[in-house]
Amino acid sequence: MKQLSKSILLFFILLIPLLMLSAEKGDVAKGKELFGNRCAVCHGAGGEGNAAMAKVLGITMPVLGSKEVQSLDDAALKKIVLEGKGKMKPVALSAQEVENAIAFLRTLKK
Ligand code: HEC
Repeated sequence: MKQLSKSILLFFILLIPLLMLSAEKGDVAKGKELFGNRCAVCHGAGGEGNAAMAKVLGITMPVLGSKEVQSLDDAALKKIVLEGKGKMKPVALSAQEVENAIAFLRTLKK
């Protein structure tokens, strides 16, 4: 019995860092959903840019899957989302939501 509880304890001790790691990593499916709700009005469902919105804003929408955007590192992307850039207003997201959004952004890479 004592041996068993020791094994269970060991299992949880090993499990905790794994859970912490997975919490930090972005979830593509959740990021896609979030992108559809919070970003697609301007960026289009696949990050190609909503032409009507670009017209309203009087700008050319950056293509999020493009080399230029994808060459930005995660920290730079996070900053743009949380602090805004030009005509893009800051989007209030939790730390985990930003991770998810970026995980999805990376899937758009051409
Ligand atoms: C109100 C419309 C709008 C919304 C909503 C919006 N964006 Fe943007 N976004 C823009 C515009 C406009 C730009 C271009 C800004 C510039 O370069 O002046 C931009 C730029 C960006 C860029 C940088 C592209 C570059 O060329 O540097 C990223 C990354 C980005 N948006 C991601 C997101 C994400 C992720 C979301 C949702 C969480 C989001 N945006 C929501 C309008 C929007």
